[in-house]
Amino acid sequence: MHLPNLLDAKKRVEKETIIKYDDYELTSDMEVLGKDKKYHIITYGCQMNVHDSENISAIMEDMSYTRTEDMNDADVIILNTCAIRENAHNKVSGMLGRIKHLKENKKDLIVIFMGCMAQEEVVVNKLKDKYKFVDIILGTHNIHKLGEYLYNRIKNNEREIEVFSCEGNVYENIPVKRDSKIKAWVNIMYGCDKFCTYCIVPYTRGRQRSRMPEDIINKCEELYNNNYQEVTLLGQNVNAYGKDLDINYNMANLLSDVAKIGIPRIRFVTSHPWDFTSEMIDVIASYPNIMPYIHLPIQSGSDRILKLMGRKYTKKEYLELVNELRKKIPNVTITTDIIVGFPGETEEDFQKTLDIVNEVKYDLAYTFIFSKRVGTPACKLEDNTPLKEKEERLQRLNELINKYARISNDKMLGKIVEVLIEGPSDKEDKFMGYTDTMKLVNVKCSEEYVGKIIKVKITDTKTWSLEGEIVNE
Ligand code: 5AD
Ligand code: SF4
Repeated sequence: MHLPNLLDAKKRVEKETIIKYDDYELTSDMEVLGKDKKYHIITYGCQMNVHDSENISAIMEDMSYTRTEDMNDADVIILNTCAIRENAHNKVSGMLGRIKHLKENKKDLIVIFMGCMAQEEVVVNKLKDKYKFVDIILGTHNIHKLGEYLYNRIKNNEREIEVFSCEGNVYENIPVKRDSKIKAWVNIMYGCDKFCTYCIVPYTRGRQRSRMPEDIINKCEELYNNNYQEVTLLGQNVNAYGKDLDINYNMANLLSDVAKIGIPRIRFVTSHPWDFTSEMIDVIASYPNIMPYIHLPIQSGSDRILKLMGRKYTKKEYLELVNELRKKIPNVTITTDIIVGFPGETEEDFQKTLDIVNEVKYDLAYTFIFSKRVGTPACKLEDNTPLKEKEERLQRLNELINKYARISNDKMLGKIVEVLIEGPSDKEDKFMGYTDTMKLVNVKCSEEYVGKIIKVKITDTKTWSLEGEIVNE
């Protein structure tokens, strides 16, 4: 049994990333473990988790389990959890309550707890003592071992808790069952070394480990050969890609090598403004298949708060970066993340956040109230602002964000844009897809266009989406 340990999770040792190519292995007994059995997976959190769930599903299917979307019908329920804010925790707690109830009537049900919450010492201690119906707790560093733990649980009736707090490896050749045949996620790195003072991720995901360029490029070539239309390169801070490798190769090099493969659309998330180089911007500008969409979290418009957050840039430096992006990349869309109510944020600080929103006029922004994460430095800061006031700030901020989102969408009216059609829209008789700048469009067209990039004329605009019709040339 390995339990998570906050002190270990904090440690960063200067050691080289070790790439393991053959650590995923199933015995023949494991390969038939799930015959005639079903698994149900629930995913919380970011794209990283969504993609991890694609790996987890593939491992389950390698063990002959079939997927069910009905929780009541499952023999194994997997929770792939997120730890970023308290409300992510709350959602998982609510789900655990439902599962407990299910298990009372179905004793053989296996419950597996994975993802970022499984890396948290406080969470695992609670699960260990109070949630005894959870059979397996598995951290983010050893997903590839799922088969082994599940086998041991079923055959030897052992409760498995295996969470490693400082695992420095990259595991290649873990199988993947992609949710889409059109768009794919490709991890380029794991973990994060930035240690923003509010953020739990450097503890739950460990130190930064980049994949080797050839492994990423081979994966992208395979996706290209399988007719994928879009690839999103994933990492907690993709701009720092390669810094931990002993080779002279960075994110700009990777972007240009991936672009050359010829996949129609290439995206990447998430960028920290700190590591965004001019070289990267030049590469984005020079390849038409690198999409002109940049998610660039600002977090706060106040230099004082940015410093307390450990973001290591000022408002001025951030604005210079935005200007360079806008100057060099025609038609670029910029979106952001903002936290309100960071400990010590005054009305004056908050006003500076509103100011930067007024200056940048984001196309979209994800906004959050600061949430205390146990073990992070910001958790210990004095926080005198009442929640009610924070909620009121969030509302004011959202109103401004919505105003600019609407203005940005309204500018699209009558324009002809390229949309990658993904599937049926919630609206009757329509299909949905995204523009190169990541705007959601509901298009009047037929099913034959699913998986294709088509020209669409925008006929109506809303705050969060656009309506359009296919342009026949
Ligand atoms: N409280 C509130 N928001 C947070 N984020 C990260 N940690 C916290 C926290 N403790 C937000 C940041 C980040 C996004 C993914 O989540 O804005 O960019
Ligand atoms: Fe949540 Fe962060 Fe973990 Fe993603 S990496 S699942 S956002 S805690």
